[in-house]
Parts: sequence; C-alpha cells; structure tokens
Amino acid sequence: MPDRSSLAHKVGYAVRHPDRVAPYLRRFARDTWLRLRTRNHVDYYRAVMRSDVTEKSPDAAVGSATHERWLALGKMQFDYLVEHGVKPADRMLEIGCGNLRAGWRFIEYLDSGNYYGIDISPDILVAAQETVVRYNLQHKLPCLTPVHDLRFAFLPDEYFTVIHAHSVFSHCPIEVLDECLANVGRIMHPEGFFDFTFNRTQDKEHHVLREDFYFRTETLVELAEKHGLSARFMDDWEQRPHKQSKIRVTRTP
Ligand SMILES: C[S@@+](CC[C@H](N)C(=O)[O-])C[C@H]1O[C@@H](n2cnc3c(N)ncnc32)[C@H](O)[C@@H]1O
Repeated sequence: MPDRSSLAHKVGYAVRHPDRVAPYLRRFARDTWLRLRTRNHVDYYRAVMRSDVTEKSPDAAVGSATHERWLALGKMQFDYLVEHGVKPADRMLEIGCGNLRAGWRFIEYLDSGNYYGIDISPDILVAAQETVVRYNLQHKLPCLTPVHDLRFAFLPDEYFTVIHAHSVFSHCPIEVLDECLANVGRIMHPEGFFDFTFNRTQDKEHHVLREDFYFRTETLVELAEKHGLSARFMDDWEQRPHKQSKIRVTRTP
C-alpha cells in the first residue's frame, strides 16, 4: 500500500507513467486555485465537481472514463446490495448519489418513493435528473436533494433501511466521516445498515490533492464505535473488481 502523497511515490509513478505527468500538473494547478477560493472541504469539492462536470462530463466527474464503465460500476453496486437482501420495499438513502450510476437501477427496483439521493454538487444533481429522464423513471418519484453537510437534520428518525455511499468517503477528510457517523444512527432503521466504500491503506493515512483520501480500516471502525455504532469490514466485497474496500455499519443493539 504506497503512500501516494510521498515524493518518492510521485517520482516513481511519474517515471512509470510519463504520459500522466501533464494531466496531474493541470489538476494540481486547478485544485490549488479552487482551494484558495473556497472556505472548507465541502465547498472545495463542490467546485471540483462543477469543474469536472462542465469541463469533462457527468460520467467522468463520478470517476467513469467511459459510459460502459459507468454502467458496469453501477451494476456492481446494485448486484452486491441485492445479493445482500435488499428488497423493493426497502427505503434507501444514497449519500453522494452522483448522476445515479447505481441510483437509476435502485430507483427502478425499489417501490415508488423509496429512493432518496443526496449530494453536495448541484451540477451532478442536474445530471442525475437527466438520468431519471433517460431511463423513464419519473413515475418512481425519486427524491434528489442538495446538501451542505451530513447531519441529515431534515430527514426523519429511524426511516432508512438501507444507506449507501459508494466512492464518496474516498473523497472526504475524516471530519466529514465523523459528522456522518455521528448522525447516521438517528435516521437508520433499527434493523437497517449503512454501507460505505473507502480507499484503504495499511500504513500512514494520507491524501492526494485533497481529492482522494486513504484510511486504515481500524480508524473507521473505531470512529463508528465512538458514535455507538457497530462496523465490520466486508470481505466479500474484496472479490469485486474495484479498488476500494467496504465497511458495513449497523446500530448496536
Ligand atoms: C465519485 S462520485 C460517486 C457517485 C456515486 N456514488 C456513484 O457511485 O456513481 C462521488 C460523489 O460524492 C459526492 N460527494 C462528495 N463529498 C460529499 C459529501 N461530503 N456529502 C455528499 N456528497 C458528497 C460528489 O459530489 C460526487 O457526486
């Protein structure tokens, strides 16, 4: 598990992938500019999303280089949760829903009104609405809401049976995870669960350009426990063709 923020790693990576040096430098310059113009991480990352959605595409902004990859990544998330027993009657909250890479499949599968997506980026939520139109899912009445924080103050107690965040905490500093874990127990049904993916490191925790964050599993499990929740590492997710790992959080009985 390399420390991607170290100079040694960056130099070695540049030597192995010379074609990626120029795009990295462009990203470095853009991110530095955006960081200087914003007050906190959420504002900064919202600006990153705005830039990626407008300069590239919504699919690229959520991390898919091609539409085929976008479809495959969404299917992988969907298949996993259905294999884990998610049923049409479940009530899902998707944190950081993006442009509904997995969300459109859940909207199609769940009973009407049972999908709730939140995101910090208004630009990606507009793209999410376009996905709803593309798949003719208007009759399912999905709710898509912009947020500034993860306190969930506007959502009801014990409502959601499934809460899901894929490739979201990989872009967040520990304070954002702390806020989420401090508040998610209130809106989670007593028998519900909260799955999230994260970039795992076994060594020093670090970040790259404050866009990608790497955590140790123990850090996140202990954080959940600090907020009175149980957390476990999902071994079966490791077999999927995806670089991130997954933790499942439940309410401690
Ligand atoms: C890599 S994309 C993944 C989107 C979606 N989960 C998927 O798998 O397609 C990350 C998404 O999380 C959102 N995001 C990042 N930080 C967030 C936060 N603190 N709260 C809510 N959404 C956030 C971004 O705006 C972006 O849409």
